[in-house]
Amino acid sequence: MAIIPYDDRDGQIWFDGKLVPWREAKVHFLTHALHYGSGVFEGVRCYNGNIFKLNEHSQRMLDGCKMMDMKITYTIDQINQACIEAVRANNLTDAYLRPLAWRGPEQMGVAAQQTKIHLAVAAWDWPSYFSPEMREKGISIQTSRWRRPAPDMAPVTAKACGLYMICTLSKHEADRNGYTDALMHDYRGNVAELTGANIFMVKNGELHTPLTDCILNGITRLTVIDLARSLGYKVTERHIRPEELKDGNEFFATGTAAEVTPIGKIDDKTFAVGPITRRIREEYEKLVRAPVPAQQKAAAG
Ligand SMILES: Cc1ncc(COP(=O)(O)O)c(C=O)c1O
Repeated sequence: MAIIPYDDRDGQIWFDGKLVPWREAKVHFLTHALHYGSGVFEGVRCYNGNIFKLNEHSQRMLDGCKMMDMKITYTIDQINQACIEAVRANNLTDAYLRPLAWRGPEQMGVAAQQTKIHLAVAAWDWPSYFSPEMREKGISIQTSRWRRPAPDMAPVTAKACGLYMICTLSKHEADRNGYTDALMHDYRGNVAELTGANIFMVKNGELHTPLTDCILNGITRLTVIDLARSLGYKVTERHIRPEELKDGNEFFATGTAAEVTPIGKIDDKTFAVGPITRRIREEYEKLVRAPVPAQQKAAAG
C-alpha cells in the first residue's frame, strides 16, 4: 500500500497557537531544529475519544525541553489543550498524536538562545505500529551495533529528536536483515530498548525490564509495571545482560505506538508468545479504553 505523504493530507494541524490547514503547517529551511536536531516530541494515543495519559505526555515534553535548554512558553494545560483541539478538529476518536516543540529560524548557528520555541500538534488515524500478524506471532528484533549513549554524552532520557538518529540507523539495518526492529544495548553493553519501545522479559513467571538511567522511561512501560503488579506479578527493574536473554520465557515490547507487542525472535533465538504477554496485552487494551477524567475527553461536545 502506497504511503500518503504526511505533508499532503486533509485536515488541520494545531500550529503555534492556532489550527491551520494540514498542507500549510510548514517551517522555513533555516529552522534551527532541521540543522541541529533541536526538537522534543511526543507520541500520544487517543482511544474512544479519550487521550490516554495526556498529562504525563505533556509533562514529559516540558521536562524534555528543560533538558534541551529550550525555554518553552506553553504551560502543561496549553499543551494538553492543543492536543485536544488537534483531535477534535479532525473529528477523530481513535488517533495517534504527534506534538513537537522545536527551535525556529530566528537564529542560525550552534548557539540558539534567540530562537523561539515553536509548538505544533498533528493527529491522525494510525491503528497499529506493527501489523496484526506481527502482533499475533511476535516481532523479530536484531541487536543493533548502535548503543544508547551514557547520560553524560547526551540528554538520553529526553524524547529529543537528535537521539533518534541512531534509532533510524538501527531500524534500517534490522530491516535490511529481515527483522522487524532493532534491539539497542546501552553504552555498558546492557540490554536497553527498541528503536521506539521498551522491552520486558518474562522469566519463571516474573517480569524484568531494564532500568531507565540512559533510555526513555516509557509511559507505557510505567503503565505496564503498575498493571502487572496489580495482577500479582513481580516486576524487577534492573540491568539485564544480553547473555541472559536466551533463558527468558517470553518477551514483549511496550510503547504508545507499539502498545504491548510480543517479541517472537531475538537475533537467532525464537520465543513463543506466552500467556503472561497475552494477559498483559489484554489488560492494557482494556485499560486504555477505560474512562478517564472529563478534562481529557477529546470527543467534541
Ligand atoms: C526510544 C523509545 N523508547 C521507548 C518508547 C516508549 O515510550 P512510551 O511508552 O512513552 O511511548 C518510545 C516511544 O515513545 C521510544 O521512542
